[in-house]
Amino acid sequence: MKSQPAHEIRVFAPATVANVACGYDVLGFAIDAPGDEVVVRHSDIPGFRITQITGDDGKLPLDPEHNTAGVAALDLLRHLGMSDRGVEMEIHKKMPFGSGLGSSAASAVAGAFAVNTLIGEPLTKLQLLPFAMAGEASADGAWHADNVAPCLLGGIVFIRSNDELDVACIPAPANLWVAVVHPDIEILTKVAREILPRDIPLINATQQIGNLGGLLCGLIQEDYGLISRSIHDVIAEPRRQKLIPDFYRAKRAAMAAGALGFSISGAGPSVFALCEGEATARKAGEAISKVFSAVPLPNQIYVSRINPRGVHVI
Ligand code: HSE
Repeated sequence: MKSQPAHEIRVFAPATVANVACGYDVLGFAIDAPGDEVVVRHSDIPGFRITQITGDDGKLPLDPEHNTAGVAALDLLRHLGMSDRGVEMEIHKKMPFGSGLGSSAASAVAGAFAVNTLIGEPLTKLQLLPFAMAGEASADGAWHADNVAPCLLGGIVFIRSNDELDVACIPAPANLWVAVVHPDIEILTKVAREILPRDIPLINATQQIGNLGGLLCGLIQEDYGLISRSIHDVIAEPRRQKLIPDFYRAKRAAMAAGALGFSISGAGPSVFALCEGEATARKAGEAISKVFSAVPLPNQIYVSRINPRGVHVI
């Protein structure tokens, strides 16, 4: 027997590392923390409303039409013919904007998932993808699922086509860990996308395809050597590293600490080091943090396995 829909639902949507070096716009994975929380409950007042937002320094609008979580939730309710249903939402931002941690994607995913759960799960997680995407696109104007899909589905997700939202879950090797370090500066995704070239020399395209294929094979075969040889980005990283103080010094420190590879998380400024084992990830995280601290740049370290769960009810 199907359980009765709950009166109130609280969900957690994790941060994500998009691109993973060589997979610009087509590869991402979820980490354990940080993440955003969204609470939804039934209301006697018809229609969808956002009643409270915390942790955003007053930057996010309560108007659902202009809020990533709101757009995702409203799109879903309209699709289901339930836009008159009384639903209240609270958004609790627990990660910074413009951080490269997939902050807007997490809110969008949390918004769609929370409402879907509240109304008795009419759609599967995969079916929620277009609604969460609409929310995310309302924030940065671009249509890429490399944060939204892993935040929603968990694990490592490869996106064959962003237009068709054709995605595939890639298994994570058991001992794969990541250190993500967020230096306290803000980079607007829009700006980080505008500095990228429109055309790519064939030689770079070939290198990137080789590395992406190698990384996917390495992950599937649990071949850490192949993973390490493949984590190179010859397209976005050379242009975007200029936005991150001492990027190459941080990269050298991570590699010297034993990381398999290092690059920019999403559009930055967060960076990540993929590692075999927790101890190496902790060492790499500390080494990167030390470089940023010397700039001086306050920073936060997050060490995590690949989060297999994605968004979930708490
Ligand atoms: N793939 C995107 C980018 C992620 O690199 O611009 C940003 O959220």
